[in-house]
Amino acid sequence: MRVEDLMAEPLDRAAVLRWLRETDPERLDLLWKAADEVRRANLGDEVHLRGLIEASNYCVRKCGYCGIRLENRAIDRYRMTDDEMLDCARRAVVLKYGTVVIQAGEDYGLTRDGIANVVRRIKAETGLAVTLSLGERPDEDLIAWREAGADRYLLRFETSDPVLYERIHPARSGVSHPMDRFTILRRLRELGYEVGSGIMVGIPGQTWDTLATDLLTFRDYDLDMIGIGPYIPHPQTPLGIEPPVGDPDAQVPATEDLVLRCVALTRILCPEANIPSTTALATINRTSGREHGLQRGANIVMPNLTPPMYRVKYEIYPAKACIEETAEQCALCLHGRIRSIGRTFGSGQGARRRHHA
Ligand code: 5AD
Ligand code: FES
Repeated sequence: MRVEDLMAEPLDRAAVLRWLRETDPERLDLLWKAADEVRRANLGDEVHLRGLIEASNYCVRKCGYCGIRLENRAIDRYRMTDDEMLDCARRAVVLKYGTVVIQAGEDYGLTRDGIANVVRRIKAETGLAVTLSLGERPDEDLIAWREAGADRYLLRFETSDPVLYERIHPARSGVSHPMDRFTILRRLRELGYEVGSGIMVGIPGQTWDTLATDLLTFRDYDLDMIGIGPYIPHPQTPLGIEPPVGDPDAQVPATEDLVLRCVALTRILCPEANIPSTTALATINRTSGREHGLQRGANIVMPNLTPPMYRVKYEIYPAKACIEETAEQCALCLHGRIRSIGRTFGSGQGARRRHHA
């Protein structure tokens, strides 16, 4: 088989499943080449940098995998002030990033008006694209933030398997509905946001079948941004201490190789999407995880802008990469890595391109 044949073949469910379980290194090499080629043909060699501001580690939710979940009493909680967030955005301008991503736990201490105000100030002062990633917030919040000028919203659905979804995302009584992240993703689109989602690979109970559905769901939702990283057990979470569940043959591993297959297949399924090479991938392969992601379909990196004193407290999973570095160190590190693989730095905001819209 040649790369052209692979790209000509429709990537249906059966083909996705076959590629996920492929063992022949020569065929896998074709997959890597095809993904890299689709990335180059649709998005060129530019890698866009999105500066990540981890604005608060308070959270009202109890996601089974996440280190900043409500019930983890072992971490110090912090919430950045508006001025601290503004400072991070100014630093993004200096470092020539086109976007800032304000991410936090689902923290209602970050109020509707407070965030709207921060968004307005960043837009007025810097002209950066503003992406929010603040959890499953009510419709009124999403509307207000869009009106304030927010451009994009990230909300990973993590898994498309309803049973696993419910297990790892316990409902808040009276507030949550089954699989509500999918409802919110559709709503974000209606509101005019660029919409991002994604998954973790290797969640206990996640099967080959549902992983294939996850990737096809990216295409069905026509996502603008898709983040994929390995699941990394956190010892202060229920999932981190629970023994693996279900049929071991059906369970997918949380390996770099499988994450890369998912990234590559996602690139072929969603040729124009912005796909980051994630920090979690860099965490399980510190030497070259970032580069591998960028060479197998990804076109985005998200350098951390959070001040170091807060960074150490935003431990959604253990041994997270970039915990001790400053914003400047991450910028230098990523510049070196991007240059080392012959890619260039994106200019501008790096919005989703729509060739076929
Ligand atoms: N391992 C890997 N990724 C995690 N995330 C949260 N907890 C973990 C974990 N234990 C990811 C989720 C979330 C994103 C911000 O970080 O996918 O959406
Ligand atoms: Fe932060 Fe490399 S990106 S140290």
